[in-house]
Amino acid sequence: MLAAFFLFLALWLQQCWAQDTSSLRAVTQHLSDPPYENYFYSDPNSDSQVVVTSPLPDSNLSIIGPRLVVAWPAGASGVCTFFQPQNGPNGSLTIELVNSTIGSPLGPVYRTSQESDTPFVGVQGVLAFNSSATLTVSILGSIRTIRDFTEGPSLLRPVIQDAINVTRSNGTGATVSRLWLDNVTTTTFTLVPYENPGSNITINQRNKSISFGAGFYTFSASFNYPQLTQLPPSQVLNTASQNLITEQPDQTTSLSFLSYTEKLLAGAWRFLTYFGRDSMISALLLEPVLSQGNGSATEAVIGAVLERLNRTDGSVCHEETIGDYATYLNLENNITSTAPGFTYPMIDTDYYLPVLMAQYFNSSPSRVTPFLSRNAGSLDNQNRNLTYQALALISAQKIMNITAAFQQNQTAANLIHLKPDEIVGQWRDSTYGLGGGRIPFDVNTALVPAALRAIGQLARTPGVFPNSTNTTSWKTLADTRASVWEQNSLKFFEINTTASTARSRLQNFANTATFYNGPANASLLPASGNITTYSIALNGYNNLSSVNVQHSDTAFRLFFINASTTTPAAAAQEARFINATANSLVRSFPAGLLTPQSMIVANPALSGSDVLIANFTNAAYHGCVIWSFQLAMMAKGLERQLARCGGGESNSTALNATLSASPAWCNDESVYSNVLLAYNKLWDSIEANAAQLQGEVWSWTYSNSTGKYTTTPLGVLPPPPGVSAGTESDIRQLWSLTFLAVTRNQNLTSSS
Ligand SMILES: *[C@@H]1O[C@H](CO)[C@@H](O)[C@H](O)[C@H]1NC(C)=O
Ligand SMILES: *[C@@H]1O[C@H](CO)[C@@H](O)[C@H](O)[C@H]1NC(C)=O
Ligand SMILES: *[C@@H]1O[C@H](CO)[C@@H](O)[C@H](O)[C@H]1NC(C)=O
Ligand SMILES: *[C@@H]1O[C@H](CO)[C@@H](O)[C@H](O)[C@H]1NC(C)=O
Ligand SMILES: *[C@@H]1O[C@H](CO)[C@@H](O)[C@H](O)[C@H]1NC(C)=O
Ligand SMILES: *[C@@H]1O[C@H](CO)[C@@H](O)[C@H](O)[C@H]1NC(C)=O
Ligand SMILES: *[C@@H]1O[C@H](CO)[C@@H](O)[C@H](O)[C@H]1NC(C)=O
Ligand SMILES: *[C@@H]1O[C@H](CO)[C@@H](O)[C@H](O)[C@H]1NC(C)=O
Ligand SMILES: *[C@@H]1O[C@H](CO)[C@@H](O)[C@H](O)[C@H]1NC(C)=O
Ligand SMILES: *[C@@H]1O[C@H](CO)[C@@H](O)[C@H](O)[C@H]1NC(C)=O
Ligand SMILES: *[C@@H]1O[C@H](CO)[C@@H](O)[C@H](O)[C@H]1NC(C)=O
Ligand SMILES: *[C@@H]1O[C@H](CO)[C@@H](O)[C@H](O)[C@H]1NC(C)=O
Repeated sequence: MLAAFFLFLALWLQQCWAQDTSSLRAVTQHLSDPPYENYFYSDPNSDSQVVVTSPLPDSNLSIIGPRLVVAWPAGASGVCTFFQPQNGPNGSLTIELVNSTIGSPLGPVYRTSQESDTPFVGVQGVLAFNSSATLTVSILGSIRTIRDFTEGPSLLRPVIQDAINVTRSNGTGATVSRLWLDNVTTTTFTLVPYENPGSNITINQRNKSISFGAGFYTFSASFNYPQLTQLPPSQVLNTASQNLITEQPDQTTSLSFLSYTEKLLAGAWRFLTYFGRDSMISALLLEPVLSQGNGSATEAVIGAVLERLNRTDGSVCHEETIGDYATYLNLENNITSTAPGFTYPMIDTDYYLPVLMAQYFNSSPSRVTPFLSRNAGSLDNQNRNLTYQALALISAQKIMNITAAFQQNQTAANLIHLKPDEIVGQWRDSTYGLGGGRIPFDVNTALVPAALRAIGQLARTPGVFPNSTNTTSWKTLADTRASVWEQNSLKFFEINTTASTARSRLQNFANTATFYNGPANASLLPASGNITTYSIALNGYNNLSSVNVQHSDTAFRLFFINASTTTPAAAAQEARFINATANSLVRSFPAGLLTPQSMIVANPALSGSDVLIANFTNAAYHGCVIWSFQLAMMAKGLERQLARCGGGESNSTALNATLSASPAWCNDESVYSNVLLAYNKLWDSIEANAAQLQGEVWSWTYSNSTGKYTTTPLGVLPPPPGVSAGTESDIRQLWSLTFLAVTRNQNLTSSS
């Protein structure tokens, strides 16, 4: 009896202490993006994002309705509840999160229980409903299950939905709860009248809905699942960049919300989990500001990639499946297990790993041995008993294996293709992202040679690879092979069109495109000669041998490749390439990529193909739309190339060293000034769109009557043919926070 009392006292003290410290150290962030209001809440016990959607007077009510999402990085899990007016017409119910005695507006949930080893954690707050309402559908468990409903064809799975219980709580409130398929975790959502003894929620057990009158209600969302360890801004950023915490509090708070010792997360709220490509591109762009060393953000990224590597074939994992959705997928395969799943559909992701490792060990050589001697396997059972070193070696061996044939014989067949059973394989991972192409530009002209250069450097760094005949040979072989790829893969993608053909195609685009009815601006194209462009991929749909849309993937080559050419022909090819890339930014849409909303990632206007014009629209996920990380990569890529000419350097020793290796085009005044102009035009447009930069993707619409472009969320545009639903952009995306590190170089103004 006495023991029980002390146990109770101890639990009570523990709870008070935890709640006290957590509310002291809580971080709240509110980001408004009507009709979405986003709230982030982190304390030492848990991390939550709350998204309140409430229809606006002009909302399309078939897409936007009253909705509350609570999303948690732990287990990529969450709660999604849909509301509708009890009596009034669709659109008449609005919901709002308000400040209260519970929080401003959010407060923590922290509850220990004898039945659970893991405490129940989450958030609570007060919701205001302007009229009587019904909670019609609740989804409790995985964010992937929620996305299957919101993005799929309103898919609800009986095995998930049937486990929901609705019970009376706190006298007049209601609790919706569900035990996960793991038989351990319970997600709970509670709604209780707030300071209103007169109201009483009605429960309808038949359809598991609840109904209630207008007014204020306390909501609480919690679950008992092991939490991740968030890196505070001071630990995400390196020592030299701590000033960003006060100068850019909004962005550094977001970066911290997406950063954990275990991994960095790709985006909030739809992608609160590991994505290999997103985290490595982010780490590469953020390198000047990102923390290094034991427990750092950089090691979180590399470690997460190595932990999830496929030990059999060396592939880097694209996406993980964790939490309730992992148990669900196992069950679909008749396996009773909560083990996470890992997918490997991509071909680009492998190449980022050696580039990131080479960059990291170059600046932190003392970390080679301690980091690479770590044992993997805490997450992916398959990798038990393998060190990080062994996994990095397997991945490098894969790259060496599959890049060898092209060194021997530079044929299109020996370029890197998408995996046979996949229609995607790099960042444009939507059905029409590559126009059906099988051989992507970015992988073959940039990522492969960059990875080979990096493997060469890693092989020459003591302690990275174990000594063997192979790894010793890589010290020189990898660079020799990289040079072959650098100078011989680009020509497969180069397209030269006569100026007159290009002008008539452009005019035809302006006459026929369904999403643009403005002028062709054909005078922006030269009057004579050839126009050089690069196809985005080879072997497209409809028997197109090359998918000839102008695109921003040229940024990958600018950002990743800086090697010298060995022949005059290769030097001339490089000059054509950088000049064409500059032209694509100097020429406004539809001739080039630059719109008032900044650089679009693809433009079919010069393709002369009706199929490509129909598919690469302003509503396509990878069409005439703007992606923040592509802006950052293009800006940094142009800066890196200009630096090779000695531009932007103030230190004269560095200047001389760079000049000796500078590419031939640096001395061609017309090319050099064109590249400089492109850099400045791009930065002007980045600065003009500062309000969008932290989002994932955005679009535009054009009005012929006003001659004006308007910034438009991608999700509100009707999808192009063959695509089922629009896409709700994430309010924060990891790789859209890279402007923390990518800034305009003031030494590179056009006039200089
Ligand atoms: C709610 O509280 C937050 C934090 O104190 C404050 O910034 C915000 O303005 C408040 N909102 C309203 C509507 O008063
Ligand atoms: C419900 O009742 C419990 C126990 O009295 C209390 O701790 C909790 O704060 C109440 N919840 C709400 C939302 O009123
Ligand atoms: C709320 O309504 C239920 C029946 O729907 C009733 O059983 C319960 O006593 C009511 N609670 C209060 C506090 O009035
Ligand atoms: C739901 O109700 C069933 C039947 O009463 C019960 O066995 C189960 O434990 C309940 N689940 C939760 C999450 O409360
Ligand atoms: C959960 O419990 C059910 C019923 O006992 C059982 O069939 C199932 O295999 C269990 N699931 C897991 C993941 O242990
Ligand atoms: C790992 O690679 C092997 C060989 O390609 C493949 O058979 C296996 O399915 C992959 N593992 C997973 C989890 O996809
Ligand atoms: C799982 O078992 C069911 C019933 O035995 C069977 O119909 C189904 O094909 C199995 N699924 C898989 C993926 O093996
Ligand atoms: C890892 O090593 C332990 C002990 O040496 C052994 O029992 C286990 O089977 C090994 N696991 C794998 C996946 O090889
Ligand atoms: C590389 O190729 C060799 C020889 O064909 C093979 O033994 C090895 O498994 C391959 N490694 C990877 C990771 O593909
Ligand atoms: C290179 O490949 C082409 C096409 O498959 C073939 O005709 C040629 O003989 C090959 N050359 C060498 C040196 O293997
Ligand atoms: C690996 O080889 C290098 C050069 O041959 C040598 O200096 C080094 O000591 C070797 N390391 C090991 C661990 O054998
Ligand atoms: C070393 O390289 C050769 C030739 O590429 C390959 O056949 C062999 O499998 C490699 N060895 C290892 C251990 O990967």
